[in-house]
Amino acid sequence: MASKLLLTFVIYHLISTVGLTMESPRPRPRLSNDAEDLQTASLDFGRMSRVKPLAVLHPTSAEDVISLVKAAYGSARGFTVSARGHGHSINGQAQTADGVVIEMSGVGSKSRRLKPIVSEDDGYVDVWGGELWIDVLRTTLQYQMSPKSWTDYLYLSVGGTLSNGGISGQAFNHGPQINNVFELDVVTGKGELFTCSKQKNSDLFHGVLGGLGQFGIITRARIALEPAPHRVRWIRVLYSNFSTFTKDQEYLISLHGEAPSDKFDYVEGFVIVDEGLVNNWRSSFFSPKNPIKLTSFNSSGGGGVLYCLEITKNYDASTASNVVDQQVDALLKKLHFIPSTVFTTDIPYTDFLDRVHKAELKLRAKDLWDVPHPWLNLFVPKSRIADFDKGVFKGILGNKTSGPILIYPMNKNKWDYNNSAVTPDEDIFYLVALLRSALDTGEETQTLEYLSNQNRRILRFCDEAGIKVKQYLPEYNTQEEWKGHFGDKWELFLKRKMEFDPKRILATGQRIFRPSLVSSTRSSW
Ligand SMILES: Cc1cc2nc3c(=O)[nH]c(=O)nc-3n(C[C@H](O)[C@H](O)[C@H](O)COP(=O)(O)OP(=O)(O)OC[C@H]3O[C@@H](n4cnc5c(N)ncnc54)[C@H](O)[C@@H]3O)c2cc1C
Ligand SMILES: *[C@@H]1O[C@H](CO)[C@@H](O)[C@H](O)[C@H]1NC(C)=O
Ligand SMILES: *[C@@H]1O[C@H](CO)[C@@H](O)[C@H](O)[C@H]1NC(C)=O
Ligand SMILES: *[C@@H]1O[C@H](CO)[C@@H](O)[C@H](O)[C@H]1NC(C)=O
Ligand SMILES: *[C@@H]1O[C@H](CO)[C@@H](O)[C@H](O)[C@H]1NC(C)=O
Repeated sequence: MASKLLLTFVIYHLISTVGLTMESPRPRPRLSNDAEDLQTASLDFGRMSRVKPLAVLHPTSAEDVISLVKAAYGSARGFTVSARGHGHSINGQAQTADGVVIEMSGVGSKSRRLKPIVSEDDGYVDVWGGELWIDVLRTTLQYQMSPKSWTDYLYLSVGGTLSNGGISGQAFNHGPQINNVFELDVVTGKGELFTCSKQKNSDLFHGVLGGLGQFGIITRARIALEPAPHRVRWIRVLYSNFSTFTKDQEYLISLHGEAPSDKFDYVEGFVIVDEGLVNNWRSSFFSPKNPIKLTSFNSSGGGGVLYCLEITKNYDASTASNVVDQQVDALLKKLHFIPSTVFTTDIPYTDFLDRVHKAELKLRAKDLWDVPHPWLNLFVPKSRIADFDKGVFKGILGNKTSGPILIYPMNKNKWDYNNSAVTPDEDIFYLVALLRSALDTGEETQTLEYLSNQNRRILRFCDEAGIKVKQYLPEYNTQEEWKGHFGDKWELFLKRKMEFDPKRILATGQRIFRPSLVSSTRSSW
């Protein structure tokens, strides 16, 4: 009842005082309380948190975002505002109960928003903050250009990944996506729009990058481009010895300063503790041409666990294929994988970048996509990755994983320390991503409860073993925990919050700060 009243208030306020629907000939944004819109905004990829907002805004421009945040900031009662990219968070980070969700990527008003603008000479593209990376790619390819740094999956929004980091196998070389941005337009928690960069309003710029949506809503991003390669030589090799595997990965990322011909363009890897995985998502690589039986490799002392190194070499149509062969062979010669486990494929660049979408379609066809995803993403310092292997891959996980486990190292010097993103205090750290799906198969090890408990066990293990991991896409419930997460960046984070979102109304789904709302009957967290 009380929330209905507040909703009425919100909508009335917006329409009467800030002219959200008035200013023609601007296309009309839509403030909605349709059941379907509310339902969509209450869900995310994690399928573990469900929180309905009071209303949903489908913006057509940055002005709409400004109007809404101004109304939220200026109204006596106050309400929260959460930008929602593609809703691919795990723990309700884009949800809010006490206010309005802005559907930044919704298709509703897509045709009327900022169109991507490519500057070939200066090597960048300007895009709407809610643009999906797949659409950024499609646009830039028309100019034979491409962003440099990626995520594995492209149906994520620019604003969403820039609020976290944006990492994939290119990060060792180019840094995360937040290091490949020249400029942003940001609407702060006071409803003011600033253009910011390293040179201009740099505090806001650095705060927003990796800032978990706490300082403003990204409405435009200027993203660094390079000439787009045409094809990709995509290679997977196997290891049974973890230390050999990590040494090779670390060697490959140490080549970041070399000429393009003398390094790979992408370095990732994954852990295979479970034969089922090979027949699960992302497995198309191995079959049917390259069938794999785990038992056909004797992992002496490997504890039955195998490690797959995944690397690519980009090239142009003008490059002779024997030149590519030579470059790849020269690099492979330096590695120490199990002989006879080289699996190679060669595909167009876009197919490589969009590879996970294929897996998505397969899982969707089997009704295995819209299930709970108790994911755990950790940055593990290099000095302790072997202990992590023993304790987690060969220990806690048993031989069931319920999804792929990615593992690859990154160079810390490719991360700008001034950005808000948090990484371990070592020159090299690994991403370990446990990308599991909970299923109702009757098998205990597949259940949401079992997997969530296992995540807690892994975090406790790291804590007790003194492995100083940092969560990527972090989830915490108390400010004490957040302080621990940010460490020596906390003071600055707090200072920026007070400056840019003093009423703490933005992205409350992260549960870092409580909003200051007058007599709210519901709580955001
Ligand atoms: C299948 C899958 C694969 C993935 N692969 C990778 C990967 O390879 N690498 C990687 O780094 N990540 C990966 N992710 C994680 C992804 O980066 C995060 O989910 C991220 O939040 C982007 O998702 P989104 O755009 O849907 O954002 P949402 O989940 O909608 O939002 C995330 C947070 O950002 C805030 N936010 C959203 N838009 C804006 C904006 N315009 N301005 C300010 N704040 C905003 C929201 O309020 C929320 O707090 C993957 C996720 C999935 C589901
Ligand atoms: C694995 O070990 C078994 C016996 O322990 C042996 O017969 C087999 O040849 C080995 N396989 C490989 C691929 O080394
Ligand atoms: C793995 O390889 C290292 C050398 O890189 C060696 O010292 C170690 O004994 C091997 N481990 C196992 C379990 O075989
Ligand atoms: C997995 O582990 C269980 C118990 O730890 C064991 O019974 C089972 O045989 C193992 N399965 C495989 C495929 O190794
Ligand atoms: C980080 O910020 C400090 C102080 O504002 C500045 O001196 C330094 O150059 C910045 N570092 C980078 C890498 O931009």
